Amino acid sequence: MESSLSPTTAVLGYSAPAPFFASPSNPGPFLAKVSSYYIILIDAAGNRTRTIHSLHKRYGPVVRIGPNEVSFTSPSLIKEIYGQGTPYMKAPWYASMSYPPVGIFSLRDPKEHAARRRLLSHAFSQGALQGAEPMIAALVLKLLNRVRKADGRPIDMLQMFRRLSLDVAGQLFLGQSFQALDNEEPPKFSEWVDSMFISLGVNYAFPPVFQVMRLLPLPQVGEVLAAPAKIAAYGEKAYWEYIEEHGRKSARRDLLTKIIGANAEGGDGQAVLTDQETYTEVGNIIFAGTDTTSTTLTYLFWELAKHPEWQERLRQELKSRTSDEVPKYTTIADLPVLDAIMNESLRLHPAAPASLVRSTPPGGRMLDGHFMPEGTVVSIQCYTTQRDPEAFPDPERWDPNRWLRRSEKADAKRAKELFMPFSKGPRACIGINMAMMELKVTTATVVLHT
Ligand code: HEM
Repeated sequence: MESSLSPTTAVLGYSAPAPFFASPSNPGPFLAKVSSYYIILIDAAGNRTRTIHSLHKRYGPVVRIGPNEVSFTSPSLIKEIYGQGTPYMKAPWYASMSYPPVGIFSLRDPKEHAARRRLLSHAFSQGALQGAEPMIAALVLKLLNRVRKADGRPIDMLQMFRRLSLDVAGQLFLGQSFQALDNEEPPKFSEWVDSMFISLGVNYAFPPVFQVMRLLPLPQVGEVLAAPAKIAAYGEKAYWEYIEEHGRKSARRDLLTKIIGANAEGGDGQAVLTDQETYTEVGNIIFAGTDTTSTTLTYLFWELAKHPEWQERLRQELKSRTSDEVPKYTTIADLPVLDAIMNESLRLHPAAPASLVRSTPPGGRMLDGHFMPEGTVVSIQCYTTQRDPEAFPDPERWDPNRWLRRSEKADAKRAKELFMPFSKGPRACIGINMAMMELKVTTATVVLHT
């Protein structure tokens, strides 16, 4: 990423348009072919994902969205780009999303990433999660009590679910809840997360603007720019408090213990993390695991509010299985209606809907009949794959029935390939089991008791 722009790149965008000359015939809007600012400006306005979706409807399964960037939709390319053993690395964009030391989400080198993933996998195993379930259940009960306290009055559930996911992540990865569900005021940490998105986004897309912002004597701008440092400092302080209180070999059942434990044992013979790498990693995990979960829950309950018949169907299914105040995950995990509602919400409202950008490997690749030279940024977005009309007829309709009716027919196979809210392959979400536990236990608890 360039830190300053020449007059030419200032007009054409930040990336050299070599692949544009190599393959000018890719379908797509003219402006996207000549300047990366086409998609950067659309992105800055918050319209990247929906615009790419419209472009696919107009131009088909291959669309050039920048001089060096192409979007695809074909199911066969999901395996090629994201599958096990893929030679496509995460695109340089990821490096810009992270401050050193780089965490699992942004590590681009496949070997380094695999070693880090093995180390962290201790914290995300089924066994670790089962041990941590009572902590999650206690926080879900707090959420239920906040909802009960509202006593039928309107309540901002996005805020409530955000508080829940933040408290869960804090409890499991920092050994202390953010107490967001205990207080009236939302925690500062949520504000910092919002600011961090702005700060990183401006730094990536408009480096000169970012440099100017740093010089501005405006307190509000200073607050936004300081957010990443505040998040890091919070994580560091909580980490040291944890070590001081519990030591490095505690019998606690939170997930930080697992990470520290894997480190202490030399984690499968792999390079271990320094303290600084550990608390930075923990900060990244909290970042990755909070808004994703709370956004999913909010959309799910919004759909349930619009479909009382599904609320009732779910309530009956849950009542047939449990009378616990907060149901145990193992008693509800396989319930078909709950599962269908979850899948349909993750399909229509995926929390990570946008393109997951990757770079084509040395030598380039022929994708869907178009040659992509080495280093082309290629991607597929689940917002579009999960709206494929062949696999998901009437795709804009929220209809859990489509998951209950599924058979082994060809459309079911296509749907399975195209459904990727947690991505696929070696870079797929490491927190999927934890997310499913939190999502299902929370949904079941609230639906059973309201
Ligand atoms: C509904 C909830 C969630 C959704 C939809 C979701 C989705 C995703 C997606 C699509 C990716 C791939 C991102 C990419 O390639 O750029 C990802 C990666 C990741 N997620 Fe999640 N996520 C969720 C919850 C969580 C939770 C609860 C945690 C942990 C507490 C978590 C931690 C991570 C991490 C660490 C990665 C990076 C994995 C790697 O590169 O190896 N996520 N997630």
